[in-house]
Amino acid sequence: MDIYAHRGSSGTHPENTLSAFKEAARLPIYGVEFDVHMTKDGELIVIHDESIDRTSNGSGLVKDMTLEELKTFDYGAWFSVEFEGEGIPTLQEVFVVFAQTSHHINIELKSDIFPYDGMVEKVVALVGTMKLDKRVVLSSFDHGAIRKVKQIAPHLETAALFMEVLVDPLNYVRDIPADALHLTLPAALRLTISQVITEGFAVRVFTVNRVEYLEALKAAGAQAIFTDYPEKMSIYLNAKE
Ligand code: G3P
Ligand code: MG
Repeated sequence: MDIYAHRGSSGTHPENTLSAFKEAARLPIYGVEFDVHMTKDGELIVIHDESIDRTSNGSGLVKDMTLEELKTFDYGAWFSVEFEGEGIPTLQEVFVVFAQTSHHINIELKSDIFPYDGMVEKVVALVGTMKLDKRVVLSSFDHGAIRKVKQIAPHLETAALFMEVLVDPLNYVRDIPADALHLTLPAALRLTISQVITEGFAVRVFTVNRVEYLEALKAAGAQAIFTDYPEKMSIYLNAKE
């Protein structure tokens, strides 16, 4: 089973920061996941929420601030004093961390609240410039955004994110179209995962921090989990093999 570090190694480091990504990059895991928004001046920035309030010492919406303004705040101290001074990374800065590793990279397009006009095109262009086309999967709860990815870059893998437990997600995903389903644990456990995989779609599950849940998903045939504790989960899996 593949392990993705969710928002970097976010259980032990402040989420979506270079510290969390450098920690993930050092681990023998399959991949990393993080969230992308766009600033007022059109820069691609890695942070989970649409506002900086929860994960920094500042306040306000990402879409209303320039990159320079966003860079003035601290994104580590809220997690622990040990990480005081941690900045907010751009998408390019995160790509650089993984440039010399073989980790797969799940870029979650956070346009599900604010639409961020032009973000899809910019992300696709940067993936191309950094020559990461074969190592990325672009996902979103904003299914229009991943439809757009396929329109402008059909060779890139995409995934539809679902919070809900849908009755028939497979036909829905076919229709978008997307290549993979990124689901919650209850949604995944209600699918016949082997059938979905036979039909050519990947099934990955978020956010799995308990080994009992990992075991249930492994038994059900899921290909991957997103976890805040990638080191712990990878040690657990390796010990069992
Ligand atoms: O991409 C999987 C997971 O990150 C989706 O939820 O809210 O943690 O971005 P969230
Ligand atoms: Mg995410």
